Amino acid sequence: MGPDIARLGEIGNTSIVGLQWGDEGKGKIVDLLTGGFHYNVRWNGGSNAGHCVKVGDKKYAFHLIPSGILHPRCVCVLANGVVIDPIQLLREMDELGEQGVELRENLRISAQAHVVLPYHKKQDQLSESRLGDRKIGTTARGIGPCYADKASRSWAIRMGDLLDPERLGEKLRRITRDKNRILSALYDAEPLAWEPIFEQYRSCAVQLAPYVCDTAQLLHEALRAGKRVLFEGANAALLDLDHGTFPFVTSSNCGTGLSAGTGVPATALRTVLGVVKAYCSRVGAGPFPTEQNNDIGERLRLRGHEYGTTTGRPRRCGWLDLVALRYAARICGVTGLCVMLLDVLSNFDTLALCTGYRRESQVTDSFPPDAYDLERVQPVYETIPGWREPLEEVRSPADLPDNARRYLERVEAYVQTPIRVISVGPARHQTLIL
Ligand code: IMP
Repeated sequence: MGPDIARLGEIGNTSIVGLQWGDEGKGKIVDLLTGGFHYNVRWNGGSNAGHCVKVGDKKYAFHLIPSGILHPRCVCVLANGVVIDPIQLLREMDELGEQGVELRENLRISAQAHVVLPYHKKQDQLSESRLGDRKIGTTARGIGPCYADKASRSWAIRMGDLLDPERLGEKLRRITRDKNRILSALYDAEPLAWEPIFEQYRSCAVQLAPYVCDTAQLLHEALRAGKRVLFEGANAALLDLDHGTFPFVTSSNCGTGLSAGTGVPATALRTVLGVVKAYCSRVGAGPFPTEQNNDIGERLRLRGHEYGTTTGRPRRCGWLDLVALRYAARICGVTGLCVMLLDVLSNFDTLALCTGYRRESQVTDSFPPDAYDLERVQPVYETIPGWREPLEEVRSPADLPDNARRYLERVEAYVQTPIRVISVGPARHQTLIL
């Protein structure tokens, strides 16, 4: 039996966002909710994101395709704000096809979504290798260079361009020539030939053409017809290009970009669910005030299986940072929290919650959204007694140990947002609805 999702009530058009540095478990929440929605829309990021969904004994890994694809009646949309690597997308479509997931009627791709090309991935890797100990720690999927070309306009290629061989050929010839000059001058890199890229991407275009359309119009028509839409932000609020821990962020608005990334205004939303781990993790470089570079961090990593879905990198782990969480919840306009991986916290004598930052002699509860300022703060902790009981079999909030309830009450009180969902394991049935 699955959890009683109906107890979340009439939640209307909903957006799901991660409130930390990614990997909070958004995929599980999307998977639980999509059964009640007609559309599942992704608005940002690319194949830097990774979702894992467990259904029975089957495990599905998603990078680009929204996990709503597992529900046969749900139409999944890659909206204009997503950057699409067509080779990765086709690989994911093939893998899903092999697992028996039907795509034909259920996937739509925006003609305005920008395309990740081989020189983007090359630029991403080479620019990182030049940064030394100020590396961003990117996923090397070409995300930053692709969004940079979107902003530069003259070097951009969109899904619509892929479908037109003449336009694609003209653009690729010109852009590859410019890129080769940059790559050679900055990194002494070997030049790329445009023709093989053209051949490969044209072949992708032929396969993807049936899915490409004007997704903003599709969504407006769906909303007018009273269809329910679930929007899904990839990456997470503290990686948001404008509001995250800049420059250690990704290159899209992951917390706040729904309207630009889909063409649907935020006023269409009734509910915004913020997904948060019961502790914190971060993959890649950048400040992380509550990081535990010790036995505690190692325990969290092992118990939480904290290795990246996209890159396999071990994640950095630490205590829950309430200062950062409240900030993220505010910028995203969150109406409810989903607390994930609470089971990982069993068996600690005490747990720590960060409720302030000390900088020199000052203590503040405001979050500085700049890496250089955040690197200079020391966390101020409140200690909460832990619990021994394993939580994996708990099916009702009333059956949680008292100290687990106290921990969650403190989170709710600090963030001033109600907790709507608690997750105690990866499976659908390991979910408590409040
Ligand atoms: P990029 O998005 O590949 O440019 O990487 C920029 C930063 O965001 C790096 O620290 C990545 O590890 C991080 N990042 C990007 N996407 C995700 C995600 O989905 N989960 C966790 N970290 C991510």
